[in-house]
Amino acid sequence: MNERPNGIREEIITIERYILDQQYTHPGATGAFTNLLYDIALAAKIIARETTRAGLVEILGLAGKMNIQGEAQMKLDVFANETMVRMNSYTGRLALMASEEVPGVISIPEEYSAGRYILVFDPLDGSSNIDVNVSIGTIFGVYRRITKEGPATEADCLQPGRDLVAAGYIIYGSSTMMIYSTGNGVHGFTLDPGVGEFLLSHPNIRIPDKAKYFSVNQGYEKYWGEGVLRFTRWLQGMNEEDPREPLSGRYIGSLVADFHRNLLAGGIYYYPADRRKPKGPRGKLRLLYEAAPLAFIAQHAGGYASDGQQPILDILPESLHQRVPLYIGNRDLVEKAEEFIAAYGE
Ligand code: AHG
Repeated sequence: MNERPNGIREEIITIERYILDQQYTHPGATGAFTNLLYDIALAAKIIARETTRAGLVEILGLAGKMNIQGEAQMKLDVFANETMVRMNSYTGRLALMASEEVPGVISIPEEYSAGRYILVFDPLDGSSNIDVNVSIGTIFGVYRRITKEGPATEADCLQPGRDLVAAGYIIYGSSTMMIYSTGNGVHGFTLDPGVGEFLLSHPNIRIPDKAKYFSVNQGYEKYWGEGVLRFTRWLQGMNEEDPREPLSGRYIGSLVADFHRNLLAGGIYYYPADRRKPKGPRGKLRLLYEAAPLAFIAQHAGGYASDGQQPILDILPESLHQRVPLYIGNRDLVEKAEEFIAAYGE
């Protein structure tokens, strides 16, 4: 992409144009995949419009109650889920969907034709942050259908992240951005609310070599194992045998926002296994809707994601809502976490 001497790019490229241009590099492509990405971008714009009005709900009518037009107000996470489903169920591009908000798979209604792709998504991640006006996001992953006949089944969703054909996220922050990869670089688009278009703002995102931040909820330190504690002390420059410059700590508590910052500035986000619920799952975050799609993005931006013991992208999900520990960001830092966990346990 050409730049003028003042740093402003020559071209203004919309997400639609960009996705179409990518399609032309794949002779024989039917356009279904291209349109699917565009449908997601459109759903994102609708969700973005509502998130910017979130603070007005109390003025215009409480969530769960009637608004002044007498319509029932929907909670934003329910609205985001419904928008993703409504935008994608009738297009003929998808065979099945699965959402963090819904216990089972989401079938394509019989009256619509089914397509070849599977869409998994977390419609509104970090939803506990909505009421305090902190950035939230939508995460998505696209797989190819693997069952051969009949309606698609849960088995089509339970694929390792390695098999994703595309993944991305939308961050509803000081501006709305959509970041995605189809395995050919990671590209970021910023929504111009005036014209209602996502414009290419961050082509070919690469995670910087030198990390700046570490992001973890240290409030739960007392529940951590020895490996996680020692790794954290190392990041803070407090390991006497292997001292380093301490990294700056930043934790928003919205995975998309924490990940996005570290992707652009360099760093590591982790949500380790902990002992808050001794009989509970190893981590908090969902493999299918959160960890795997972001691991795909990290990988294609030159980073890495692990559950502390193995690459996230290698994990074959056993159930739709499976949770995993997550370490994601600069490869050297994530590998260091794996080293500490191998030596001292998680
Ligand atoms: P939720 O969507 O229920 O608010 O969960 C958010 C996720 C993720 O976005 C974030 O990084 C993490 O949970 C924060 O959890 P803690 O509050 O336990 O740190």
